[in-house]
Amino acid sequence: MIHAHVTAWFIAIVLFAVALSLHKNGKTKGFKILHMIIRVFYLIIIGTGVGLLSMVYHIDVWYILKAVGGLWVIGLVEMILIRTAKNRRTSVFWFQFIIVFLLVLYLGFIKLPMSIFHP
Ligand code: HEM
Repeated sequence: MIHAHVTAWFIAIVLFAVALSLHKNGKTKGFKILHMIIRVFYLIIIGTGVGLLSMVYHIDVWYILKAVGGLWVIGLVEMILIRTAKNRRTSVFWFQFIIVFLLVLYLGFIKLPMSIFHP
C-alpha cells in the first residue's frame, strides 16, 4: 500500500511537470489529455492514502495534518493546472504548493512511522 501511494504521487508530480512544459510549448491538446490522466492519479493517491489511514490504530493530529496536507497539495495541483490553462496567475498557488508539499514530505518520510525504506 505504501509503495502504491508513493508511486502514485511521484508519477502525478512528474506528469504535472510534463503537462506544464507542454502548455509552455503551446501543446494545448497534450496538456488537456495529461490533465485528465493526472485527475485519475488524484483518485489513486487519495484511495491509497485512505487505505494507509485505515491501517493506523490511533489516528493522532500528525496523521490528520498529513491527510489534510495531502488533499491540499492535490487541490493546489488542480488549481495550478486550471489557472495555467486559462493563462492566469499561479504565483499564490505555487507559494503554497512549495510549503505544503515540503510539509507533507516531512510528515510522510520523517515524522510518521510507515516507510518504503524499512518494510
Ligand atoms: C500529493 C499528495 C500526497 C503526497 C505528496 C504524499 C506523500 C506521502 C509520503 C512521502 C509518505 C511517506 C512514505 C514513506 O514513508 O515511505 C506518505 C504516507 C502516507 N500518506 Fe500520503 N501523500 C499525499 C496524499 C495523501 C492523502 C490525500 C492521504 C489521506 C487521505 C495520505 C495519507 C497517508 C498516510 C496515512 C501515510 C502513512 C504515514 C505513516 O504512517 O508513515 N496521503 N504520503
